[in-house]
Amino acid sequence: MLLFYHTLAVASLQIFICSGNWAIAKNINFYNVRPPLDSTPFPNSFKCFTCANAVDNYNCNRWAEDKWCPENTQYCLTVHHFTSRGRSTSVTKKCATRDECRSVGCHHHRETGHKECISCCEGMICNVEIPTNHTNAVFAVMHAWRTSEGGRRAISIPLLASVVTVTLL
Ligand SMILES: *[C@@H]1O[C@H](CO)[C@@H](O)[C@H](O)[C@H]1NC(C)=O
Repeated sequence: MLLFYHTLAVASLQIFICSGNWAIAKNINFYNVRPPLDSTPFPNSFKCFTCANAVDNYNCNRWAEDKWCPENTQYCLTVHHFTSRGRSTSVTKKCATRDECRSVGCHHHRETGHKECISCCEGMICNVEIPTNHTNAVFAVMHAWRTSEGGRRAISIPLLASVVTVTLL
């Protein structure tokens, strides 16, 4: 029975991520980023913009390393430091675990007058933008797609696929 639930979970996750990637890929044409066509290192693998202490978002994305995220990570994390006037001072992006994504949100450092915002997202190269306030410094997971019009179809497909997968097994 445990195996059954595990299989179900894995199957729905896989299809969910696939359908989610499709939705994201449709929305992103920024910086001409496309999901890679080369073979993936393991199932559900993904990439994040990855940079450490870039001066701003452009310089992070422009020179970001293009590599697959480690298997123990599931999300893309972005740390943005900026002045009270909104000028970026540091941008860091990386692959992250669910635990690391608990730190999303914005904090104000009184001594320096600087702000720090952290956001997390799920999906292929999803961390294009940088968080600037409480609205976008959030943990954005794929389930958010359910609320959109096209998302309704995306639920039934994973459900159907899970049932089919389980039946075949
Ligand atoms: C948060 O930042 C985004 C992008 O910079 C902006 O469009 C939005 O209006 C901001 N929201 C608030 C509540 O300040």
